[in-house]
Amino acid sequence: MNPLNHVAIIMDGNGRWGLKYKNSRNEGHRAGLDTVEKIIKETIKQKINYLTLYAFSTENWNRPKKEINYLFSLLENFLTNKIEDLHKQNIKLNIIGVKNFSKKLNKLLNFSEKKTLKNTTLQINLALNYGSKLEIINAIKKMNKNNEKINEINLSKYLQTNNTPDPEILIRTGNTKRLSNFLLWQLAYTEIFFEKKLWPDFDKKDYVKVIGKFRKIKRNFGNI
Ligand code: IPE
Ligand code: IPE
Ligand code: MG
Repeated sequence: MNPLNHVAIIMDGNGRWGLKYKNSRNEGHRAGLDTVEKIIKETIKQKINYLTLYAFSTENWNRPKKEINYLFSLLENFLTNKIEDLHKQNIKLNIIGVKNFSKKLNKLLNFSEKKTLKNTTLQINLALNYGSKLEIINAIKKMNKNNEKINEINLSKYLQTNNTPDPEILIRTGNTKRLSNFLLWQLAYTEIFFEKKLWPDFDKKDYVKVIGKFRKIKRNFGNI
């Protein structure tokens, strides 16, 4: 049985779900939040210590302004209403990506991170305005500035995931098989599960099934 510490998820398919069932992409984003809550709950139940969720990529700025605004208002409401609850569940919230949002949202994100900093049950890395290429470039720039030797261990330390082991599992919902600039370095040896279901339809049972499949995989790491 493979040990499991860290699950990363590309939560894709909200827009299509919204269009299909509610005639609105934004409704899909709203429904996707319910899945987020269910998956967090199951992650804790499974005693997994790290969960990284891709919520907004550096490329997602290409979307219509109306959709972007809706996404960030959802996030703002979610954190405002739920941070106390997350804190009570001993969850640590860690933002990865570049925090260059509205003053109000930046403040809320910093507050949420600070409030939950010492929590130990589950660390959630929320990827917001996150792009893996940008993360790597920024890491190398900083390493240069600090005269740091360029090697794997040091580069890992300079990434925003520095306090997180590499994920053993990556799940991408929404029936699309690509990485979309997510954790390119960290996923070097991750087991990847592309799921047909759209994110709002993905449920606890699907999640448990992926975990069960993962547990039985023969992981070689180059060995035989
Ligand atoms: C993923 O769902 C969520 C975000 C990018 C915020 P999408 O919005 O990409 O959903 P589809 O792929 O268009 O259905
Ligand atoms: C990736 O999904 C980003 C998030 C899930 C936040 P996208 O739906 O934006 O990816 P592409 O652009 O279709 O590859
Ligand atoms: Mg998509």
